Amino acid sequence: HLQCCINPSILSADFVNLEAELARISNADAVHVDVMDNHFVPNLTIGLPVVQRLQKVSPVPLDVHLMISDVDRWAPQFADAGMSSVTFHVEASNAPVKLARELRARGAKAGLALRPATPVEPYLDLLSEIDMLLIMTVEPGFGGQEFLDIMLPKIRRARAAVDGSGVNVAIQVDGGITEDTILRAAEAGANVFVAGSAVYGKPSPADAIESLRANGQL
Ligand code: DX5
Ligand code: ZN
Repeated sequence: HLQCCINPSILSADFVNLEAELARISNADAVHVDVMDNHFVPNLTIGLPVVQRLQKVSPVPLDVHLMISDVDRWAPQFADAGMSSVTFHVEASNAPVKLARELRARGAKAGLALRPATPVEPYLDLLSEIDMLLIMTVEPGFGGQEFLDIMLPKIRRARAAVDGSGVNVAIQVDGGITEDTILRAAEAGANVFVAGSAVYGKPSPADAIESLRANGQL
């Protein structure tokens, strides 16, 4: 089955010990790296220089989530830094098709992210241009928020469109994924699961990853 991936978010990790924090999730499928600019979202995290260093030391591929304005200018530089995937928000790009093509040309998978209030339908014609659709299940900006169940129909519609068009596009969910919510998201059709506090908020992040896999029936 398509359902595969637990991508812990280092947003909930200890930012002064990032290399050690990566080593604690070596059983993950990828590490989710939240880049915020205090403009697209009301929070500020890390930028390109830190992400370039993370790429050098990470035991797992990097799945970068850009919550930044001016993404048409920045995203290609993250692809050049060796990211497995670069996900940008449709609300922040003036030319999402051009940008997705640029990312793929630079060897990264292209991800398109939607805030909770952004409908998926206008972007279904773009599925052949991307490798991943990120359906936010909280308002982007902070970890530890509650999963928005009202996003489940959107996940279902995205899954139907992906399956119907036969493209190989992953459906990622991000925000509020826990041992309790992961199965609902999986049953709706998501197959890549970001989890911050549900991994790094636990005494053993590695065990938490396995619990999520078990509860999501991955
Ligand atoms: C929120 C970020 C998420 C965040 C998720 O804007 O995009 O990746 O780390 O954190 P949890 O899993 O705690 O909701
Ligand atoms: Zn994220």
